[in-house]
This record gives sequence, structure tokens and C-alpha cells, in this order.
Amino acid sequence: MRKNLIIAIDGYSSCGKSTLAKALAKELGFIYIDSGAMYRAVTLYFIRNKVTIQDAEVVKQALKHIELNFHSRDYQSHITLNGEEVSEEIRQMPVSEKVSEVSANKQVRQEMVRQQQRMGKSKNIVMDGRDIGTTVFKDAQVKFFMTADPKLRAERRFNEMQSKGDTSITLEEVFENIAHRDYADTTRIESPLVRAEDAIIIDNTAITEAGQLDFALKKVRPLLT
Ligand code: DC
Repeated sequence: MRKNLIIAIDGYSSCGKSTLAKALAKELGFIYIDSGAMYRAVTLYFIRNKVTIQDAEVVKQALKHIELNFHSRDYQSHITLNGEEVSEEIRQMPVSEKVSEVSANKQVRQEMVRQQQRMGKSKNIVMDGRDIGTTVFKDAQVKFFMTADPKLRAERRFNEMQSKGDTSITLEEVFENIAHRDYADTTRIESPLVRAEDAIIIDNTAITEAGQLDFALKKVRPLLT
């Protein structure tokens, strides 16, 4: 099998990128990398350490003290921040509310992109995010761009949080957060969310998880032989 095939999945918040990415990784035996988790973990570090994002020197020093690692268990990606498992905490509202600001920072992006490109060297990977097909891996052999109805995305995210026992937030608040992040992600100066010209659009408003996996596999499999 080929050893350096990259599948880039970009798209809006909460529209099933990680579900598709994990399913593809499992089906194909690829490594899954959740680039959003990296921005979230950096955000958690900045919150905990009261890093002033406007101060370039402070940000530079903070980035030197952050070590991120992924551990894959059952194709669920777990991320550690300086050795501590933070996969749950980075999905909670304090991080979700601040991650747009942190991920719009040029120094943060440069460092994350550098680490992401290193992770993709000589390996078969699926990476999801906002700028994977446009910046991190412009030459990725397969690019998907995912979208879905914003109301449905909020409902899915809300149900997911409820099922994990997080009942501190209303559906309206989830909707607001998603709308805010869509706006911030698409209008920021550094690597805004845009569809790469060669990305295949998947609108999963009305297709099942199995349906989208099937569709994506049909695009990828011919490249593996
Ligand atoms: O995919 P997610 O919702 O966990 O991502 C969290 C935030 O990180 C999102 O608001 C945008 C940002 N992000 C980014 O700017 N670039 C990426 N490659 C991945 C995520």
C-alpha cells in the first residue's frame, strides 16, 4: 500500500468532519489527526496560564512550553497537553468560547501548521480542520469540504453534549457559539476557512454516516492501488 496518502477534510464547525475522518481512518488503517483539538489544547493552556494573546512575546514564550501529543485508542483520538489527557476538557464551553480568538493568531497558526506537516511526513493520514486542504497540505491527494444546515449542526452538538452529561448549556447557546465560530473562521485574516478549489463538497444535512463514508471511500480507494 502507498505510504504517503493524505486525506484533508475541512469544513464548518460541528458538521461531522471528525465522524467521517475517524471512520475513514478505521476503514483504511490510516492515522487520524484532529487539528481542531490542537487549537483547543493551546486555548486551554492560554486560559489556564492567563496568556495575553495580544502580546507577541508572551505568546511566543507560551508556545515553547506547550507539548501536544495524540494517542489513538479505538480510532478515537486522545490529546495530551504537556502529558495531561485533556480530550474532555477541550470540548467544554470555556475553551469553545475562546478558541476562535486563539486560532486566529498568526504565531499560534504557524506553530500548529509546522507540527501538523511534520505529523504527515511519510505516513497515511486523515486530518480534519479548516485549512488542511488550503494551507497545511495543499498537495493532499484527496480533499473533502463538509457542510450541513446550521440548525442541524447545533442540534447534533447539543445532543452530543447532553449524552456526555453536560447539561449546563442550552440549544440556543450552542447555536450561537456555532454561528459565531463560522463567522470568525471564515472572516479571519490568517488562513480563513475557504473551500480548496479541488475539494469535493459533502453536504451531510440529509445523508447518513454510512452514506457519507461510502461516498468518501469511493473517492479514496482507487488511489490506494
Ligand atoms: O474542529 P473544532 O471545532 O474542534 O475546531 C476548534 C476551533 O479551532 C475552530 O473554531 C476553528 C479552529 N481551527 C482552525 O482554525 N484550524 C484548524 N485546522 C482546525 C480548527
